[in-house]
Amino acid sequence: SVAEKAGYKHFMQKEIHEQPRTVADTITGFSSSKDEKLFEMLKDTDRLYIIACGTSYHAALVGKFWIEKFAKIPVEVDYASEFRYRDRIIDDKTAVLGISQSGETADTRFALLDAKEEGAKTIGLVNVVGSSLSREADYVLYTYCGPEIGVAATKTFTAQLVALLLLALETGIKKGTTTYTDYEKIHEELLHLPSKIEQLLQKDEEIKEIAYRYMNASDFLFLGRNINYPIALEGALKLKEISYIHAEGYPAGEMKHGPIALIDEKMPVVCVIPQDRNYEKMLSNLQEVKARKGKVISVATEGDRQIKELSDEVIYIPKTSDYLYPALTVVPLQMLSYHIATLLGKDVDQPRNLAKTVTVE
Ligand code: G6P
Repeated sequence: SVAEKAGYKHFMQKEIHEQPRTVADTITGFSSSKDEKLFEMLKDTDRLYIIACGTSYHAALVGKFWIEKFAKIPVEVDYASEFRYRDRIIDDKTAVLGISQSGETADTRFALLDAKEEGAKTIGLVNVVGSSLSREADYVLYTYCGPEIGVAATKTFTAQLVALLLLALETGIKKGTTTYTDYEKIHEELLHLPSKIEQLLQKDEEIKEIAYRYMNASDFLFLGRNINYPIALEGALKLKEISYIHAEGYPAGEMKHGPIALIDEKMPVVCVIPQDRNYEKMLSNLQEVKARKGKVISVATEGDRQIKELSDEVIYIPKTSDYLYPALTVVPLQMLSYHIATLLGKDVDQPRNLAKTVTVE
């Protein structure tokens, strides 16, 4: 009903717009439920596997950057369905973190249980309290989003990012691998995140117009680098899931080794290009796209004027710390796929062939 959707047309739209609150709640929730035993365990961990499926897998890919940077634990990210059937290396200093919104995804649950049996310490990051994964893992972390109904994950993704960043910082400070200055600075920036997401949500009409101009494309390419590369993957996944347009996410530097062959005047290329330390490199990838007449849709930092001349469309996002950009850059990509799919008349809350939670292998 309309009431359940709080005046929004679809659950997905409602959930995209809830993100300022769900991000804020996840920050508060994390600090009020810190389990010291978890950080003690992680201080002693010398290898961390993060396993997940779908959108949660993309959060895991971002989490790797933060955990390696701040907690200095080598991280390997794997699809749960791959991890389960390979010869992973597990000893008593190995931890496995399973990320799952529902906590019921069979691939993730069973992969985690197998690792537990082999002696790994297990951690679950879930949204649903009391879910199977939360009961099966040795340690549990939560995202505080309330129920997510739209099949395509949105608010739980940004909350997973926040939880992973906080986990990395907290482990880092306890282990002595993060400085207080960095710890404080990033916490401070985190507190501004909800209002920055709010500013992005105001761009709904602008993004809808962009969606209208590109909705008839048959393929999309999404490019990003470093910590925003997983966001390119997530942007492409969102578009595929709900609009059925073929889309590929790629690390921008890898474009020259294949996908560049696909670029012509019909190909929209979404470039995730915030003004961070990868900016110059991303810029030259963007120019390579332009030189092949691709249509460039940039997600860039406010105040970046040169990007305007090089792009067909620019969606500006507020400035933040290099480490926090993924939590902002993903939001316009969620909105873009939402608008493309609804303009095409697709059922965004219940896309064909997909289930919110896959409880079979
Ligand atoms: C399904 C959903 C995806 C979701 C994935 C993982 O495929 O359609 O949106 O990302 O499961 O779900 P989980 O609950 O484990 O995060």
